[in-house]
Amino acid sequence: MSNSRPIGVFDSGIGGLTVVRALSQRLPHENIVYFGDTARVPYGPKSPQVVREYTLQDTDVLLEHDVKAIVIACNTVSAVALDVVQKRARVPVVGVILPGADAAVRATTKKRIGVIGTLGTILSNAYTNAIRQIDPAVQVVAAPCPLFVPLAEEGWIDHKATELIAKEYLFPLTLEKIDTLVLGCTHYPLLRNVIDGVLHHRVTLIDSGAATAATVEQMLRDEGLQNTSTMKPNLQFYVSDIPHKFMEVGERFLGHKLGKVHRAGGFAG
Ligand code: DGL
Repeated sequence: MSNSRPIGVFDSGIGGLTVVRALSQRLPHENIVYFGDTARVPYGPKSPQVVREYTLQDTDVLLEHDVKAIVIACNTVSAVALDVVQKRARVPVVGVILPGADAAVRATTKKRIGVIGTLGTILSNAYTNAIRQIDPAVQVVAAPCPLFVPLAEEGWIDHKATELIAKEYLFPLTLEKIDTLVLGCTHYPLLRNVIDGVLHHRVTLIDSGAATAATVEQMLRDEGLQNTSTMKPNLQFYVSDIPHKFMEVGERFLGHKLGKVHRAGGFAG
């Protein structure tokens, strides 16, 4: 049975397009509706209470589009508000924490994993808890890297300043002799080369978005929700602020042109 209803994906803003990219690569025929809360980004420094409130509204935007499943692309939301989405939506919900944690546990050989993310994600301990639940013998070291978000949005992908900041952030993790690092934020895959270089190519980098795409593929199969059509998929983009910057910067995150971006109703302005 084929199901052409779209997969709903949401994020605090633009970063979730890296997850859309991973989903499109893995599931090239699935239709996708994306919502980025660009009017209220960033979520990373905000309290869990506020993020949970925003999450409820973000979920409602997607539910208006009759989505067959919801993917929470935002690590911060997945860390502090997964249950909010699960309670609101009567469709399968996939966050990025469990798939990322699972991929990291499978990759580590020395059982020493590093996790980087926004302040909200790191303070929540969501990755640490998920990893330790899968394998209690794993040592986890976590560090917030808040400046990576604006650097990725500025396109400072191979910039000296980014390298300097990455060295500062990652040095304490190298002291802990990690062999695997979870890129626990939507923006960090864009800085992969710099991070890899600073770690002397000796640490396995886990992209939670890519791991999540594999989980979504499995979930669609298990639930009988795949779209078996071979038509070019329909990708729709909605944001809560005017779409100028989203269109300009989004291409870099998505890997190709976005086409039309709509302003979602129900937000101020
Ligand atoms: N999307 C967020 C995350 O993955 C990063 C940007 C923000 O702070 O809102 O945690």
